[in-house]
Amino acid sequence: MALTLPAHADPLTDRIQATGLLPELAHGLGGPFHYLLPERFDANLAAFHAALAEAGVEGRVHYAKKANKASVFMDRCAAAGAGVDVASPGELRDALGHGVRGEDLVVTGPAKTGHLLGVAARQGALIAVDALDELDRVLALGGARPARILLRCHPPAQPRSRFGLDGAQLDEALRRCAAAAGTVRMEGFSFHLSGYEVRPRTDLAGELVELCGKARVLGLPADRISIGGGFAVDYVAADAWQTFLAEQGPGHYHAGKAFAREDFYPYHSPVAGADALRAILAASPGGTGPSLAERLRQAGVRLLVEPGRALLDRAGSSVFQVQGVKDRAGYGIVTVDGTSLSLSEQWFNSEYLPDPVLLGDRAGDGPAEPFAACVGGASCLDSDLLTWRKIAFPARPRVGDLLVYPNTAGYQMDSNESPFHELPLPPKVVIDHPEGGGRPRWRLDR
Ligand SMILES: Cc1ncc(COP(=O)(O)O)c(C=O)c1O
Repeated sequence: MALTLPAHADPLTDRIQATGLLPELAHGLGGPFHYLLPERFDANLAAFHAALAEAGVEGRVHYAKKANKASVFMDRCAAAGAGVDVASPGELRDALGHGVRGEDLVVTGPAKTGHLLGVAARQGALIAVDALDELDRVLALGGARPARILLRCHPPAQPRSRFGLDGAQLDEALRRCAAAAGTVRMEGFSFHLSGYEVRPRTDLAGELVELCGKARVLGLPADRISIGGGFAVDYVAADAWQTFLAEQGPGHYHAGKAFAREDFYPYHSPVAGADALRAILAASPGGTGPSLAERLRQAGVRLLVEPGRALLDRAGSSVFQVQGVKDRAGYGIVTVDGTSLSLSEQWFNSEYLPDPVLLGDRAGDGPAEPFAACVGGASCLDSDLLTWRKIAFPARPRVGDLLVYPNTAGYQMDSNESPFHELPLPPKVVIDHPEGGGRPRWRLDR
């Protein structure tokens, strides 16, 4: 009756759970918390670098910081010499403060304030210009050195996007850049597409390579393109996902709530993370001719990518303690010590679907009866559910048990958190594994 959707097996997470560290942290911190696994971030970053190297493409990875507020990922970018995509003064400050060099930043986002543009230009960051009036503000900065810019393209295949310059605006922008040589350094073009498909990214990247040629004719450097983020994360197995999509309906949720299938994140993706970048580079723009990798090489154009979610794959989880369990006809309602603001899919009228894992000491108990229950937050709002779905728990949860939501570092854990009801924000705990094994060490993210 309850549909299961377990996250992919993760030996590192299992090891952490086996040490008993999570109940200790729940006790010590006295509330919900998130834990982060920076070694996973390092491995994901290395996989993106490897994909570029294997394709023989010169490029750079800029971690899209909006996907998680933790500082530890800035530290890791700085240590690995990776770039960061920032979209606000706060994100820019945090990246610089954790040692990422200004020239390794890409500043994205719409209608950036004069302050953000000024700081970005002075730091030598690459500014993705989103509109003609923004370009004019950059041209008016008058700093000691030319501001480095990309021109962000409005994606023709996503005509409803509010971002970027259309064809005529790009022509005008190029004209203004050429006329203002010495004030700006026009280094190329960018886009960010909604969705996770490979083909539209290859196609539009091919067009941007052509645009670089056009810009060079005007005397502009135009030697790089950014294809943004949108590299999928594969959370669950294909068969479980297909079964879920085919069978899910209002009866599977508390209060008969209905979710539109297309509003769910695609929790299974056969091509994900760095493999998606490999696929984008191996495909031919427009479906014929040389691959994108080949075209980049031939044109001497560097490739920038801005993955957020994909660099955080399996790099963190969210832990809540059970505060109460009550019964409804045919299922239960588990209430935990946090709120749905720590699982941001609810923001999109959607739901974070990988099953939470129940942790509790049941040594000495008899065989457990499975128990279906949704998961509510510790607030007075009827709509505050972390999970509307009736989860198939292996046993009836008890007060004090932990619920671990797996793989939440990418956008889930902190995009929307607020201290509603004066509940403190869940702290983030960084878990490191000493080289050569041994017990995991933990510290608070600062
Ligand atoms: C300009 C830009 N770059 C990169 C990203 C990161 O996307 P993702 O986390 O899906 O890789 C976003 C997300 O909104 C974005 O707007």
